[in-house]
Amino acid sequence: MIERRPIGIFDSGIGGLTVARAIYDLLPNESLLYFGDTAHLPYGEKSPELIRRYSSRITQHLVESGCKAIVVACNSASSNAIGAIVKAAGPNVPVIDMVTPVIRSISAEDGCQSVGLIGTRATIASGLYGETMNQLNANSTLVSRATPLLASAIEEGFFNDSIPGAVLEAYFADDSFNNIDSMILGCTHYPLVRENVQALLPKGVKVIDSPKIIAQELKRVLTENSRPYTPEHKFQVSDLTENFIFSAHYFFGSDINLEEVSFS
Ligand code: DGL
Repeated sequence: MIERRPIGIFDSGIGGLTVARAIYDLLPNESLLYFGDTAHLPYGEKSPELIRRYSSRITQHLVESGCKAIVVACNSASSNAIGAIVKAAGPNVPVIDMVTPVIRSISAEDGCQSVGLIGTRATIASGLYGETMNQLNANSTLVSRATPLLASAIEEGFFNDSIPGAVLEAYFADDSFNNIDSMILGCTHYPLVRENVQALLPKGVKVIDSPKIIAQELKRVLTENSRPYTPEHKFQVSDLTENFIFSAHYFFGSDINLEEVSFS
């Protein structure tokens, strides 16, 4: 039985909606509570301390709102604030970040030997993708580059026109991604310009679908954490007659929740 409490998802703005949509597609019966920290974006240009402060506060808000799991749908927060987020979530609310599930998924696949990564300044500067890759998959190499203009352009609504292509062309001009076999879009805004990225990469480079991987990880975590659900039944009547009490006990036993409700 699926527990009815919502999944908390957060990002600095619209980027996390790419993850929320993948979760909605995979787990259509789950309630979602999305928080976009639009007052403080872009996270990618903030210090780790500020990212930690914003992320902890949002996590606290989502936990107080009854969320049963937190998805950090922001690579900048996942890379710089995961410890603070896990602490704010407390021991009973699992946290899913953007980095570990993606690197684990890549490690399990053949043909991911030379991996490209683009993300915000904060994500790339943290070095967390490289560290996690070294821990999980020592055979792959990571070529990373910060592409700071991209998330702001996307947040401003420029994702169905020529601007992202021009921005990416400038960032890819030094040919550093010429020999990669796969590419991680290390910012949740970037799936919105996935085709622009693909078009600038050598043929055959696989662009990793991070939102889908995160949704699958959430499903796994929810299944692992699912607790037996105790159904609660209520029987309400407008006039609590002896006859109704007798009949209700006859059908359901005496240990039932029976109440009289009057409408005003
Ligand atoms: N979408 C966020 C990420 O994944 C960051 C965008 C920003 O606020 O800089 O890193």
